[in-house]
Amino acid sequence: MKKYNWGIIGTGGISNLFAQGLTTLKNANIYTVGSRNQTTADIFAEKWHIAHAYDSYEAVFADPDVDVVYIGTPHIFHFQNVRDALKGGKNVLCEKPFTINAVEARELVALARSRNLFLMDAMWNRFQPWFQVVSALLKEGRLGDLLHFKADLSFRFDVGPEHRIYNRNLGGGSLLDLGVYPIALASAFLGKPIEIQSMAHLYDTGVDDQVAMLFGYPSGAIAELGCSSRYLSKNNATLHGSKGFLEIHGMIIRPEKITIHEQGQEMIEMKTPYTSNAYQYEAQAVMEMLEIGGIEHPLMPLEETIEIMETMDQIRRNIKVSYPGE
Ligand SMILES: NC(=O)c1ccc[n+]([C@@H]2O[C@H](COP(=O)([O-])OP(=O)(O)OC[C@H]3O[C@@H](n4cnc5c(N)ncnc54)[C@H](OP(=O)(O)O)[C@@H]3O)[C@@H](O)[C@H]2O)c1
Repeated sequence: MKKYNWGIIGTGGISNLFAQGLTTLKNANIYTVGSRNQTTADIFAEKWHIAHAYDSYEAVFADPDVDVVYIGTPHIFHFQNVRDALKGGKNVLCEKPFTINAVEARELVALARSRNLFLMDAMWNRFQPWFQVVSALLKEGRLGDLLHFKADLSFRFDVGPEHRIYNRNLGGGSLLDLGVYPIALASAFLGKPIEIQSMAHLYDTGVDDQVAMLFGYPSGAIAELGCSSRYLSKNNATLHGSKGFLEIHGMIIRPEKITIHEQGQEMIEMKTPYTSNAYQYEAQAVMEMLEIGGIEHPLMPLEETIEIMETMDQIRRNIKVSYPGE
């Protein structure tokens, strides 16, 4: 496989984790980083041994040696950053949530397709080895008919209204930041819901800090999902089928183990080992698609990303949360 030159956009928390993951891949070269200012770009470049550091994102998009761009900025900027990267002729991996709403997502998908460029939503847990194991078990019918899915992702954020989790101008709210994970898992296992009910608690800034969701599916299956930035929870998931149930232990973003409980059978436990911090799996998946000239990844199809955004749009209409410009 060719060695791919990555350009990282933004130098915050997730960009550091992603860079750490990239350093474990021998076919990945962190070629450049773009920041809003030169000092933060230089500090990030020194930390991760990156040869080029730019004081703008545009400079990364304009560099002819960059093969693929990773977007690690707050959600509200994803649309503009991805659009600029695609217009610069770059393949793109964009952090979750992919955009603020489905309108933005559809526009980016159309742009990527029209330019024959790779684009993907960085739903990193789908590329971790456990996800394939669970998908295969479901496909084999180990649980029988899937009847019920329960999942949540909640952390207590001890931060003020300026932080991106509560800042409406940065696309704040627990739904887009945390709820996207249980929603994306429900989407992977059950598809697009036909009925959506939700209830939320709102923070002072007008964005949600706790959301409870109930989804209904054509098969009759039901999903119960939750997210919050007010409290810490187990952050796990359970799939109930007609023949048994499967538990995803530890956090759904990086599970510790899977257990399968079948009627009358002994429980089966499967460990979910990781190499490095587990962000490298999605990066490797991107490069494997680039290698074969693919413009989207079958594990995180762009139509599904749009559906996930549509689901979150509907929840936000229910709970009356909107963002500037909507
Ligand atoms: N996949 C995951 O596990 C995971 C985990 C955490 C976050 N995320 C996602 O990653 C994105 C960034 O989250 P984060 O926690 O890394 O945020 P963060 O620590 O605040 O970093 C965001 C970076 O974006 C850039 N930026 C551009 N405009 C900004 C603005 N007006 N205010 C603040 N930063 C701005 C900054 O980089 P420069 O100053 O260098 O331009 C900043 O360092 C979010 O969309 C989030 O949902 C994903």
